[in-house]
Amino acid sequence: MCGIVAYIGKREAYPILIKGLSRLEYRGYDSAGVAMIDKKGDLNVYKRKGKVSELISFVKDKDTTGNVGIGHTRWATHGEPNDVNSHPHYSQSKNLVMIHNGIIENYATIKEGLTKRGHTFLSQTDTEVLIHLIEDIQQHEGIKMGHAVQAALKQVIGAYALVVLDKNDPDTIVAAKKGSPMVIGIGSDDFFIASDASPIIEYTKNVVYLDDEQVAIIRRGQELKIRNLKDKEITPYVQKLTVELESIEKGGYDHFMLKEIYEQPRSVLDSMRGRLQADLGEVRMGGIVDHEKKFEKAKRILFIACGTSWHAALVAEYLFEEFARVPVEVEYASEFRYRNPVIYEDDIVIAISQSGETADTLAAVELAKSRGATVLGICNVVGSSIARATHGGSYTHAGPEIGVASTKAFTAQVTVLTLMALHMGKVRGTLTESRFRQLLYEMEAIPSKIEEVLKLNDKLREIAYTYKDSRNALYLGRGVSFPVALEGALKLKEISYIHAEGYPAAEMKHGPIALIDEEMPVFVIATKGANYEKVVSNIQEVKARKGKVTAVVTSGDKEVKAMADYVIEIPETDEFLVPLIAVIPLQLLSYHVAVMRGCNVDQPRNLAKSVTVE
Ligand code: AGP
Ligand code: GLU
Repeated sequence: MCGIVAYIGKREAYPILIKGLSRLEYRGYDSAGVAMIDKKGDLNVYKRKGKVSELISFVKDKDTTGNVGIGHTRWATHGEPNDVNSHPHYSQSKNLVMIHNGIIENYATIKEGLTKRGHTFLSQTDTEVLIHLIEDIQQHEGIKMGHAVQAALKQVIGAYALVVLDKNDPDTIVAAKKGSPMVIGIGSDDFFIASDASPIIEYTKNVVYLDDEQVAIIRRGQELKIRNLKDKEITPYVQKLTVELESIEKGGYDHFMLKEIYEQPRSVLDSMRGRLQADLGEVRMGGIVDHEKKFEKAKRILFIACGTSWHAALVAEYLFEEFARVPVEVEYASEFRYRNPVIYEDDIVIAISQSGETADTLAAVELAKSRGATVLGICNVVGSSIARATHGGSYTHAGPEIGVASTKAFTAQVTVLTLMALHMGKVRGTLTESRFRQLLYEMEAIPSKIEEVLKLNDKLREIAYTYKDSRNALYLGRGVSFPVALEGALKLKEISYIHAEGYPAAEMKHGPIALIDEEMPVFVIATKGANYEKVVSNIQEVKARKGKVTAVVTSGDKEVKAMADYVIEIPETDEFLVPLIAVIPLQLLSYHVAVMRGCNVDQPRNLAKSVTVE
């Protein structure tokens, strides 16, 4: 996630770029940068860590003239947020500059080859490698920029929305797209490029949405030219923008939370990119590779986290104990940091945090480090305090999560944790090769299965209507679905203000069943698995006391369907991967209830996106 913007035409480029970047800042704001070619033919590049406002102050007294330029707001994936890692990035000769949104999975291999050919790199980013590759091809094959970009992208594995500017050809910009969004605005005698239409809509409503593996060659005063990577010309399909600016930033969704719920097929896929090679039977986790020996010998893993991240840690407890047979403890960071815990030097402590700034989790990290443990982080913000405080770790690549209620960060965390648990099981020999591969293939199928569940949105809205005036709710699950019950309850309570509790389904008889009557909605995760029959019994117990049951079941389930008030059928998956799919309907349910109750879904009362206070 990040924002890209570009302009070529008769107007001054800089004002268009900087206004466009401000419009795109919601997509990620670790750093910002622009590049323009001025009338003298000089290529001026300005880029700074921090928000767009920092860039504006930085360029105040600089030459920002020119009627061709590119701009970028960064959401870092490779290389922490600083000036050097900011975009635009130069080629080796410094004649080319490029901005990029996405992840080049095989950048390390490409970088190795280019280094052998004498290339030197200034940043730790994957993006810089790609612009070096483009120039390397352009120079060695003596071809034009458009064809050099096409040739380079054939070597690339990953996602990109990129724009290249050539100092020696100020009348052309070249753009390309795969996996990341890009729209081209067609003005009367100029062109605009951006991640979404928000920087374009005030200048033109005529747009072309590039498809994956398409390259746009834009020449001043000429028609837009589009080719695919097989060098086939594509006729541009010009559409008329009909949406308004405000809705564009939310991708056409009413709230950031709903947009982020729908981004999960992409964010789960992005969190696996470059790490999961099912056909090769491989998981490559940077955060583990550097500490492989410790994971091999670890006698215990301690997770520390808060809120939704703590629920992801609970899921991890089931996964690591099942796949890697290593004892796991899950701690609320806020308790862990104050209770003088027992920590051994051979412990592996893993901190989970979307923001990477949660004060209690950061303090717990420092405590664990002071006791000599190996401390790793799973964060969604590259270069965040927790990420920098740990000895290493793996980033989730969920992109900026704006809604206070965490959704795509949770599934991204569980994705990374699942891969880590699988890798650890492989390393420790506690997972058979066939089970390992079976789970890898099942992981690969998760994004499309989430897509399937998102199609149930209308049904979930109907169910939500039934419960919108409830005063309480109970969420039940067993095994690895118990943390999903907790997460579903947290979602409902934090955005609709209905009191909701998650419980292990078997615990009902130890107290909560006293709460059951026709006023108490009960949400049960009752998917196929070892505990299925027992969960069915729990549903019968609830029904016997006139409770209203909504059950998340495996597609085709008949038994629960015959007894529950509502069933939500989700695609079958391995029982240990159910959390990645079963949580989606619970997210949508809580969203619709909150909207029907007129709550502020993206900024619920009393809450903050990142709890940086204790
Ligand atoms: C979850 O929806 C809440 N926003 C909250 O519980 C959150 O998960 C918690 O504050 C932890 O935040 P972190 O992941 O950024 O550390
Ligand atoms: N992967 C690139 C980087 O880390 C681009 C990230 C983005 O999309 O902003 O710089």
